[in-house]
Amino acid sequence: MFKKLNILDEKDKRLRMISKDATFPLSNEDKDLIKRAIDELTYSQIENLAEKYELRPGMGLAFPQLGLNKRIIIIVHEVEDGVFDEYVFVNPKIISYSNEMIAADVGEGCLSVNREVEGHVPRYARVTVEGYDIDGNKIKVRAREELSIAFQHEIDHLNGILFYDRINKDKPFFNENEIRLI
Ligand code: NI
Repeated sequence: MFKKLNILDEKDKRLRMISKDATFPLSNEDKDLIKRAIDELTYSQIENLAEKYELRPGMGLAFPQLGLNKRIIIIVHEVEDGVFDEYVFVNPKIISYSNEMIAADVGEGCLSVNREVEGHVPRYARVTVEGYDIDGNKIKVRAREELSIAFQHEIDHLNGILFYDRINKDKPFFNENEIRLI
């Protein structure tokens, strides 16, 4: 049976903490939360299920959003209609990134931020992320475009950073000459 996760709201101080490295083996509770996060993120991106379970669409979650300050992130990326790539990274680190910057033209959203926040969030167009899978095996991914933004957004959560912290208050919007908008 599907049971919605309890996702912390932006006002919760736990979202502002620096999370600690997770240690292996992961607990069954952690593995269960990861599985539930994958399900919930997937359902949230399938219209009839999102409606049925009243889920706001989201492609990523980080453990601090569940009240646990451990460095674990989950991303469910829709690569084509109804086809999803799942990423679970334990102790993720960005080991290289492009010079080129991008921003989501519509701005970013977050399952902990229950309001619209306008403005472009500058991100690296491409990042290489290293980390571990749930069994402690080393893994690596090269992410670009939307997926690159998702990794940076989720890793920010592990460092107590919310996406709007990165919006320039004096100049919240860029034009196409300044940054590539996707
Ligand atoms: Ni978020």
